[in-house]
Amino acid sequence: RALSNRRLTGAIMISGRGSNMKALVAAAAQPDFPVRFTHVFSDKAEAPGLAWASAEGLETGIVDPKDADDIQGRLVDSGAELVCLAGYMRVLPSVVTDAWAGRMINIHPSLLPKHKGLNAQAKALAAGDKVAGATVHLVEADVDSGEILEQGRVDILPGDQEDTLSRRILSVEHQIYPRAVSRYAAAMLAQGEGL
Ligand code: GRF
Repeated sequence: RALSNRRLTGAIMISGRGSNMKALVAAAAQPDFPVRFTHVFSDKAEAPGLAWASAEGLETGIVDPKDADDIQGRLVDSGAELVCLAGYMRVLPSVVTDAWAGRMINIHPSLLPKHKGLNAQAKALAAGDKVAGATVHLVEADVDSGEILEQGRVDILPGDQEDTLSRRILSVEHQIYPRAVSRYAAAMLAQGEGL
């Protein structure tokens, strides 16, 4: 395997249930996963995923989504070298996305560049698409833009509704997000891009 056993320190940002966060944390429990997640931040104190993270022994914190200094300060203080957005439902200030360029990853429930923004699954249905999916990408100031790291496709079935399609896309999200993060972080380590 890689040249060293060093792992990147990772932080995760959520707003809600946190199923993608759980998939990342579960993957990181394997010894060869190149990231160790230490912190989970949410803009919502009541996010169910936050209680789960805390029970798992991760450090948790609430951020003010409009306060770039607060977000940036917390991320830096966490020691994170890589930040994964996992259902963080706010637009990050560009000061923050610029500071983390190349070190911040997001997952979006569509085949980007199609259907950016909220309710992507409903947009795919409304557009009459035959195929939907999920995209893991680097974060830029523009929402749901940035280099694509991995995509997973999901057939849209006759009779699909937003909930049925979203459920099938979510299970693909849980597969591709840990895999894409693992590959990307391993490449960062190989290039000596850790802190
Ligand atoms: C996922 O569909 C993700 O792609 C989108 O928001 C949802 C979050 O779900 N950005 P969860 O909180 O990870 O369960």
